[in-house]
This record gives sequence, structure tokens and C-alpha cells, in this order.
Amino acid sequence: MKILLTGGAGFIGSHTAVELVNEGYEPIIIDDFRNSKSFVIENIEKIIGRKVVFHCTDIGDQEKISSIIKQEKPVGIIHFAADKAVNESVKNPLKYYHNNIVNLIKLLSVIDKHNIDSFIFSSSCTVYGSPSFIPVNEKTPIQPAFSPYGYTKQVGEKILTDFFKTKQQTSLTMLRYFNPIGAHPSSLIGELPLGVPSNLVPYITQTAIGKRKELTIFGNDYNTADGTCIRDYIHVVDLARAHVLSLKNKHSYNNIYNVGVGNGKSVLEVVHSFEEINNLKVNYQFGERRDGDVPEIYADNHLIKTELKWEPIFSLKEALHHAWAWERELKSKYKIG
Ligand code: UFG
Repeated sequence: MKILLTGGAGFIGSHTAVELVNEGYEPIIIDDFRNSKSFVIENIEKIIGRKVVFHCTDIGDQEKISSIIKQEKPVGIIHFAADKAVNESVKNPLKYYHNNIVNLIKLLSVIDKHNIDSFIFSSSCTVYGSPSFIPVNEKTPIQPAFSPYGYTKQVGEKILTDFFKTKQQTSLTMLRYFNPIGAHPSSLIGELPLGVPSNLVPYITQTAIGKRKELTIFGNDYNTADGTCIRDYIHVVDLARAHVLSLKNKHSYNNIYNVGVGNGKSVLEVVHSFEEINNLKVNYQFGERRDGDVPEIYADNHLIKTELKWEPIFSLKEALHHAWAWERELKSKYKIG
């Protein structure tokens, strides 16, 4: 069964392509490498041991997307293609409204003319804003978004819900990702941040390898045990598996699932776990709080565990070990770093 992956050469898309093949699906990857590199496709092929179908196309090009759908006839679509940096979205909101909302509407206009069994959307725990109780479950009231990026995910969920109400033959699943980290255990695919990383784990690995002088931990005066923010870090392969299980899900036609491991780790705990598992030291200092950071959020993942029988396989330490192996691979093989 063919599954179309928009943004399939990205961090989560590439790992999902591999997991789809492991479960007997045929991924059809669309990407224009604006946030990735062409070697990702070659490395997906190394992992799966064969060629993968790939189209180098801008997701906003409706004519091309339409002809790819006509030609490939996918039964499902997983829509990863979007921008995802919270800070950047504050500085350049129109880029986010265009790439995350206008392009979503363009994609839906194309698939309106085709029959698709499943549509899976990359949503984010950012839709919860700063929640009044933790852990958050799927019924936790949505708060005003902290950033244009967060707002695009809230609006995206609404657009999809309204659109698929008119298409009862398609099962819609919106996965609210918590903090994806790590890399494939083969060290062939992983995260490829452009420029200075804004996310914690790539900043840690780039500091450990010497590309960055020092990690700044944004705030140590939060009302948490060690004063640093708490997040729910999930291995990217576990997150990828949630997409495959969503395709198999015949539970209902409109599904929302939190995808997180269900416990919170502080920034300092992540740094110390990284040091311990990889037997090295990371230079860090404490800095000011970062605008837009919520003090604490982690998932109630009961729903996805019961309905999709999803369980995370990898621990935080394994994820940090894989992230470090990937960073070294980037430096030695691709001279990135
Ligand atoms: N952090 C640092 N120093 C850094 C980078 C991050 O201390 O150099 C801290 C942040 O302040 C935060 C934690 O590490 O407390 C995690 O930060 P990330 O940037 O890795 O992740 P966020 O939780 O801010 O963002 C992630 C995703 C977004 C998503 C958001 C929802 O990257 O796409 O979760 O909360 F929208």
C-alpha cells in the first residue's frame, strides 16, 4: 500500500519512511530539500536495502502534487511538510502562515478530487499553550498559542477537522508530538538543523563536538525541582512508529493523539543524562529565560497506548546516545559540524 509523505526527507518524515517499509508499506516521498539534504534519500535506501520512490517537488505546486497523486494512487497521506521553529515564526510570521496554512489548504484542495483512506497530520503539543494542569490529555482545553508557529498548528487542526467532516471515507489522525529527539540507530539518518539549532538536543551535541562553545540553559529559576524547564522527550523512531499504527487504526474517523513518553525531564536532567551515557562533559551556563517557553509540559499518553497499542521502545539515554552517534557521523562523513 502506497503512502505519500510530504516532507518525507525531514527529521520525522525520513524515520517514518523507514518504519513504513518495515511494516510492508510503500512510502512515496515528496520533498524539495529546503530543510534537508539529498543524501537523506540515499541513506533511507541504505537502511531499507532498496530504492524508494522520491519526487523533488514543492508541496505548494498543486499541478505537480496532483499529477503525483494521479500517478502513484496513494491510499494514505502523511503531511509533515511545514516549518517548525518557534523563534523564527515570531520573527517571520508570514513564512509560517504561508508554508503551514496556505500550503495545507492547497494540498487539501488537491486531495479533494481523490479518494484517500487515511490522512495523518503533524500537530504539536504547542497547541496546549501553557496548560493549567499537567500531564495534558487530548481533552485539555486549548489555550491561546504562544507563537505564530503554535497558532498554525491550532488552525491546521481546525481546518482539517472541518474539511474531513465532509469526507467520511477518510480517517483523519492528528498526532500531537511532544519533543522528538535522537536518530536512527544505524546513524544513517537524524536531525539536520539549519544554522544555529534552536532545539536543546542538537545544541548539546554540537557543543559536545566543538561546533558551539557553550550551551546556554534558558532559565534556572522556574518553579520546578531543579529550576529548569520540563519537557517530554521522545525518540524519533518511537514517534515514527506512531504514524504507522495510525494508518492501521480503524478506531474512528477523527482521531487526536498525544505522542510523548508520558514523563517530564528537566533541561539539566537531559544534559546530565547525555554526559553520563556518552561519557563526556558539556560546557554549559545558565542564561535568561527564553521568550515563549512554558515551564512544564508532558503527555498523558493513555489514549494512544490503549487505542493504537503504541508503546515507546527507547529510553531517554538511548535517544541521547543515538543523537551523539549521529552528530559524530555528520562530522566525519558529511563534514557537517
Ligand atoms: N533549551 C535550552 N537551551 C537551548 C535550547 C533549548 O535551555 O539552547 C531549553 C528550552 O528553553 C526548553 C527545552 O530546552 O526548556 C526544550 O527546548 P526545545 O527548543 O528543544 O523544544 P521546545 O519545547 O521549545 O519546542 C518543541 C518543538 C516545537 C514545539 C514545542 C511545543 O521544537 O516544535 O516543543 O512545546 F512546538
